[in-house]
Amino acid sequence: MPSKKKSLKIGILSAGGDCPGINAAIRGVGKTAIVEYGMQVIGISSGFLGLINEEYEVLTEEKLSGILTLGGTILGTSREKPFKKTKDNGQDQVDKPKLIKRHYKELGLDALVCIGGNGTQRTASKLVEEGLNVIGLPKTIDNDVWGTDITFGFDSALGIATDAIDRLHTTANSHKRIMVIELMGHNAGWLTLFAGIAGGGDVILLPEIKYEMDIIADYLVRRASEKKPYSIVVVAEGISKPKKDKAATFISQQIEKITGLETRETILGYIQRGGSPSPNDRILATRFGAHAVELIAKGRFGQMVALKGQEIGSVPLKDVGSKTRLVPEDFPLIGKGRKMGICFGDKYCRGKIV
Ligand code: F6P
Repeated sequence: MPSKKKSLKIGILSAGGDCPGINAAIRGVGKTAIVEYGMQVIGISSGFLGLINEEYEVLTEEKLSGILTLGGTILGTSREKPFKKTKDNGQDQVDKPKLIKRHYKELGLDALVCIGGNGTQRTASKLVEEGLNVIGLPKTIDNDVWGTDITFGFDSALGIATDAIDRLHTTANSHKRIMVIELMGHNAGWLTLFAGIAGGGDVILLPEIKYEMDIIADYLVRRASEKKPYSIVVVAEGISKPKKDKAATFISQQIEKITGLETRETILGYIQRGGSPSPNDRILATRFGAHAVELIAKGRFGQMVALKGQEIGSVPLKDVGSKTRLVPEDFPLIGKGRKMGICFGDKYCRGKIV
């Protein structure tokens, strides 16, 4: 009689800031694992904290039903970084990586799927070095994970940010004002660039392009002198600015001070991360989730699932390491924007007519 193969047991967690599409990815992993491969799936609570504090539950098909369209994460998340050294007044520190390894073994896991952004992929890579079988799934509204063309969460945030900019146009036009809107993205300008272009921003400020306030002021004065009744300025939270200020507040105050034009600010904040995922994010997260399980079934561990062009593949987690994917200054969309007269705050911007 052929011997019955032991079915695999896999763990799944979500870590770092939440974003739309995490539940779609959990569902993609869980349903593929259960239906196609007969695996057992353990949902780990609150990111790596759940593995430290032993907080888990079995994810059945029933638990995975009805979550595709839900924002946030049914598992919860945290910014716990188990490899980060902390000072605790000379007392013995808890060896978190050791606890994680012990609990992974005690749970009988054959693999662990880590859904997260840069910080999570870094931790996942360190757990690989510790001998665990790990697969990374890249998610974040920032779209700044190295090794993949896109992360899920980005497309949903782009839709929300674009809608917000659309709404600013009408109020800006009514009052003949300059409107400054600040978008998230950490140190990367992907969300601001894409939403800025999609929302018809006149000035777009990215962390990757050094801006000069006088250039921006000249540009806005020129627009006013050309009888453009209002202007929209889209700024990334990560641009250079005094530490105490929010990006939009700083830029808005500077514009008003230099130009005398009436200016208002909006900081979009966590709305960008909330709510139901877009159809594109649902599809991407589902494809990523299913691919993660295929990698596990083949025994190909230590990989992060990634999109390259139209193809889903993977890159070694050790290559993702601590890299961040920033917007290159020669990114084609920036060039196209410049040709249309959009100002990025640098010397290529068309200023005041003299
Ligand atoms: O990485 C996602 C993100 O939303 C960034 O855009 C933002 O800078 C950060 O998280 C906010 O972090 P927190 O949730 O810790 O306030």
